Formats: sequence, structure tokens, C-alpha cells
Amino acid sequence: MEIKILGGNSNRKLLFGICEELGIEPAKHTVSRFSDGEIFVQIEESVRGDDVFIVQSTNPPAENILELLLLADAARRASAARITAVIPYFGYARQDRKDKPRVPISAKLVAKLIESSGFDRVLTVDLHADQIQGFFDVPVDNLYATPIFKKYLFSENPAGLDPEKWIIVSPDVGGIKRARAIAEKLWNLPIALVDKRRPKPNVAEVVRVIGEVEGKNVLLIDDIIDTATTIANAARALKDAGAGKIIIMATHGLFSGNALEKLEDAPVEKVVITNTINRDRGTLPDKVIILDISELLAEAIERIHKGGSVSQLFL
Ligand code: R5P
Repeated sequence: MEIKILGGNSNRKLLFGICEELGIEPAKHTVSRFSDGEIFVQIEESVRGDDVFIVQSTNPPAENILELLLLADAARRASAARITAVIPYFGYARQDRKDKPRVPISAKLVAKLIESSGFDRVLTVDLHADQIQGFFDVPVDNLYATPIFKKYLFSENPAGLDPEKWIIVSPDVGGIKRARAIAEKLWNLPIALVDKRRPKPNVAEVVRVIGEVEGKNVLLIDDIIDTATTIANAARALKDAGAGKIIIMATHGLFSGNALEKLEDAPVEKVVITNTINRDRGTLPDKVIILDISELLAEAIERIHKGGSVSQLFL
């Protein structure tokens, strides 16, 4: 069974990056549009009996999800032996429970769509909530970007990283587990928390900083930067509480609305993200650093193909 890599249009650069790491070309395929805008997909070489990996982040537009589903359907009907969805950024994950009357559980619906289109397994990065894996009945490998951030911190040493002076901060209660996991991998740094409330979607209010941040430099950890409200408000509250330098590390840079202006104005030295979502470097403030995740994904694909352990990559 050969590896065949395909992808939709959400992140072609990452698709090619993964293929380069694996030393293979993407399988020949087209993902284009009919003149009315409908999606047209065709796999232009045999995938019969092959181990097919379809790379597609599911950030907006929603067509990204549909491209993923149509590619799976094409691969299944072309008799692929196994089809894996490689979803570097899993969108619709933030609506993962019915916390108000008459709202959907979008993450569950998207998981059902993905599964019913023919995928045998899912590979993703920093799912918004680990328990989303339970919305699937097929295996899900949820990688963490932590090793990539760690490598960056050790090699670049931004703003003079001295473990004695640093603290890990989560910008909300939901991120505390993530912050603790990264703290354990970085000299067991202490952790603190920003108590954030969301009166409505995309509005984030800081209530208070919990923990000793005065005189400390901060690594502010999150999974997603969307409107950048959470991270910018947290940075300001931390500064008010006497924090020194602040570096943000967040896996997925969605950057919607006026996020870039907010990041530019926020009292932070660096905003470190990964390329799970395709971003044009030229449009971003200089303080935004994009780390490449293709090597990690390629390694996971190779291990899945050979039946090796993927959890080794969490270290
Ligand atoms: C929330 O639970 C997430 O972890 C992020 O903090 C949130 O999605 C960021 O959104 P925004 O940048 O719009 O505040």
C-alpha cells in the first residue's frame, strides 16, 4: 500500500511542505469550481489499494469542509485502501456543547460529516478540546504544536529567555490544561491564569489575573487567535498586574476582523503561530512569527502509514 497525498485549497503551501518532507509529489488531482461556483474534484491517478491522506484545514469559508468531503468521496469510490483526513486546523470546534437553548453542536455535526464521507481516521493539531475526539467513531490522532514552540524557544531564545524570570499564562480557564502541559515541558515553569468572561461570541472581558505575574516575563499560551480580543485584553491585564515582557504562542492564527491591528497595538514582543492556516507573511506585523508544522505532520503521516506510534511525537 503506497502513500498518496492529496489536498483541498485551504492550505496548498502546507500540502507541498508535507510532501517535500516525505520526499514525494502530491498525487495528481484537481480541486476547482464549475462556473456557478460548485466544487469540482477529480483524482487524476489511480489510488486503488493505496493509503490516502487528504490535507485540508477547515477554517472558513465552509467550502473548505466540502472540498475535504468531496475528496474523500472520490478516493473511496476509487477504491483507496485507507483514507485519512489530515486537518491541521479543525474548524467549528468551538461550538462543542449545547450551552444555550437552540444552538447546534457544530463540532459533532462536522465530525459526523467527515466520518460519513468515507474517512477511516483523522489526524489533527491542537484540537480546541480533546474530547472532540469522542465525536468520531474512527481513530483520531491529535498532535500538539508544543514541540515546535519548544524548539523555537530553545533555538531563537526570543527576548532573552531565562527560566528564572518566566511564567506560563493561560488567557482563560479553558486553556489551563494546555498551559500546564507546556509548563511541564519548559523547566516546569510556574503558571498563572487570566479569568476571562465571554458575554457573547467574539467579545472577551478580563475579570482578573490569578497568580503572581509581577516582575515576571510571560509566555501567553492559546490554541486559537481569532479576533485577537482574548490575547490583547489578557496582555493588557498582565501588564497592569506588573508583568514584564510578553510572548504569545498560539497554534492557529485565524486573524479575523481587526485582529492584526489589535496584535500590533497589544503590549507584546512576539506573536508566535504555526502555519496550520495559510497566511501571507507580507500582510502580517513584524512581531508575528510563523513556525512550520509540515515536518511534524509528515512524521505523523509516515508513522500512521507504517503502523508506528504517534504519541512519541508528543514528547
Ligand atoms: C477560546 O476558548 C479559545 O481558546 C481562544 O481563546 C479564542 O477562540 C480566541 O478568540 P479571539 O481571538 O476572538 O478572542
